[in-house]
Amino acid sequence: MSAPLAVTVSSQIDPVLCAQAKEHARQWQLPYWDRPRKTGLEGQLGVFADAFLVLGSDGWTLRDASGALRFTPNMAWLRIKRLEAGHRDDVLVRLCELAPGHEVLDGTLGLGADALVCAHVVGPTGRVVGVEQSLPLWVIASQGLTRFDPGRPSARIEALHADSAALLPTLADRSFDCVLFDPMFEKPRKAAPAFDVLRRYATQAPLDAQMLAHARRVARRWVVVKSARYTPALKRLGLTPEPTSRFSNIVWARVAAASHHGEGAAERE
Ligand SMILES: C[S@@+](CC[C@H](N)C(=O)[O-])C[C@H]1O[C@@H](n2cnc3c(N)ncnc32)[C@H](O)[C@@H]1O
Repeated sequence: MSAPLAVTVSSQIDPVLCAQAKEHARQWQLPYWDRPRKTGLEGQLGVFADAFLVLGSDGWTLRDASGALRFTPNMAWLRIKRLEAGHRDDVLVRLCELAPGHEVLDGTLGLGADALVCAHVVGPTGRVVGVEQSLPLWVIASQGLTRFDPGRPSARIEALHADSAALLPTLADRSFDCVLFDPMFEKPRKAAPAFDVLRRYATQAPLDAQMLAHARRVARRWVVVKSARYTPALKRLGLTPEPTSRFSNIVWARVAAASHHGEGAAERE
């Protein structure tokens, strides 16, 4: 029977790369496919494993029978350039009221675009912790972030492989300035092929009231939630979308941190 996920290399030529990939497979407790020279991956998909994390000289790729996903900081890059040019239209930065030195918890790291933007704004004196539940997505994000050089002062992003729903109750009151959630949209719209790969491996569960309550306890300032205009996700949580361009399918809501004069106490129990 084929494993759900395995590790291999893009080519068998480089023994250092093979040793690194093997060591990662051991750490992540995934099977390793010792790829024979000049052998394609296609024949092993659905045989050795349904998907592979493939290490090449340029980093990791998640491959399955329908597509491939790599770490791409391009979207974050555009947003960072706009911020540097003095534009004030980054909704996440505005709603979080992000400033140098702030500490941010990103409860839905994905491929880390929002986390990269936060890391740029909070700078080296700040802190960004990103949580990703999906093992393959965490590998692509955490390895990509480790290799990525932002080229300007930025906070290091700590990428944790965990379920935010399980992690949040363990975090101390007021331990981050902002907590951010960008859960998967419930009714997906047509997207780029790489995003389809992300969707296949992503945790689909929506943000629930308990997670939101814990996030408010853990935050000192704001909890910010991203959603799609055409889903009832925000309404279900009692959140009101902030006014944004009516042409955008994306909506945002923010809720203030719990007051900690009793409001958070019930949520800790
Ligand atoms: C829409 S993506 C986030 C994209 C991200 N904001 C970015 O800028 O790249 C949502 C991600 O959150 C992850 N996720 C969803 N629920 C989670 C949870 N409870 N704990 C950790 N990660 C979760 C999914 O696996 C997925 O990778």
